[in-house]
Amino acid sequence: MRAEYSRGGPQNEQFVALGSESWLQEDRPQVLGRSRGAAAEKEHLSSDLASGPGAAERTAPYVWHVKDGGHEAPPEIRAAVQRAWRPPYFVRGAVNIREANESSKFWFSRRKGSVLAHADTYCIPAVSLQITGRKHWRLMPPPAASVTDRPDSHDGGIYGTGRWQPAWEATVSEGEAIVFFPNIYHETYVPEEGNPECTVATTFQIQLPVPVRYLRAFLPTHVLSHLYSDGHGRELWHSYATLRPPHKVRPTLDEAAIEAQVSELLAAVDLDGDGQLSLQELEGYLAAQTEPVMQMQAQTAGASESERTTPTPPWPRWFFTEDYFYDWRPPAEPHGVRREMEGELLKYRAADTLAYLDTEGPDGLVSRAELLASLRQWHAVHWWLAEIEQAEASLQRSGGRSQDELRLVEGRFMEKYSAGRASQVRRSENHEL
Ligand SMILES: [Fe+2]
Repeated sequence: MRAEYSRGGPQNEQFVALGSESWLQEDRPQVLGRSRGAAAEKEHLSSDLASGPGAAERTAPYVWHVKDGGHEAPPEIRAAVQRAWRPPYFVRGAVNIREANESSKFWFSRRKGSVLAHADTYCIPAVSLQITGRKHWRLMPPPAASVTDRPDSHDGGIYGTGRWQPAWEATVSEGEAIVFFPNIYHETYVPEEGNPECTVATTFQIQLPVPVRYLRAFLPTHVLSHLYSDGHGRELWHSYATLRPPHKVRPTLDEAAIEAQVSELLAAVDLDGDGQLSLQELEGYLAAQTEPVMQMQAQTAGASESERTTPTPPWPRWFFTEDYFYDWRPPAEPHGVRREMEGELLKYRAADTLAYLDTEGPDGLVSRAELLASLRQWHAVHWWLAEIEQAEASLQRSGGRSQDELRLVEGRFMEKYSAGRASQVRRSENHEL
């Protein structure tokens, strides 16, 4: 398993054997650079919980990435652990059970074990289930980002920037779990008090349902985050606003064009003509889509030859990216577990789409105004993103010496979509457009 916060090398190995006793019996201090260490000293929650000399010291935990295989978990070991691993009761359905099982890893912490604030790279919710001992958590939503000053989502990168302002705090005890959404910043600490020498937690992900209201509320922030630049947020969340597969709608600021899209969608989805979209109508519309997801996968960098050529179900019933599970791939035949997954994905896509769009009330129905508001936000944010990406590309070509162009693009966006209060309001208040 991996020794977190170590520099590597013979004195401070980056990897240790699970069977070795050294990691279990000795505290290992966190090895951090001077500036990161000083910032963590002040801002990590261990400093808040400190009482008495040495109380704020932090030790470095260990994590066993069973999911990644390799030398950390050779195939037979990984298969044996995954066979024995049981999901908690709230993880239901073929997609979630497979995802949870495939993505599981184990955290081992001695007392004072600490993880510095960071946001994970996953675009789906994560769960940490405490198997033994208790762990303190502090969490916060993603801080507002500026195009020229994006938050550092890596371990401890947010300390010392004035942005680490935890919004929630929790203690997770044995048998309890904490669930957090993509781009939620979090840090942990295993206190001495009330804990055994070594505590164990397992963490994993679930795919469904998608936390769509949170994604929408923070859309301008998410698009500037690692979930868009390094992850698949763009593909995964496109259809909740547009009701079309990824890349099928181009962002525009043309009001008439957006109004026309709303009219087109209402005509196609609102079969009873009452001017509102119900869950049943949304599910019926999605179920009737015939475009195979394969075409999207072919556009995704990294899609293999077989993924490009194997027939896949229509897009509302399938995964949008080629890496939806670590290794496991559903069988090609459209029955058994694959049929079960197809049904789950369609059902959840309809319910999640309704939750994304139904913001006023919410009353379980989507009005024309709600559909329009959602599309306007999607178009404005993605138009802005396209402008930023264009400006960044031209900056790169010119050697990246001036960021004025980026600031101009952002300034225009903020003036228009923060109701002209861009210079007066704090960026953190501008999540909702
Ligand atoms: Fe994490």
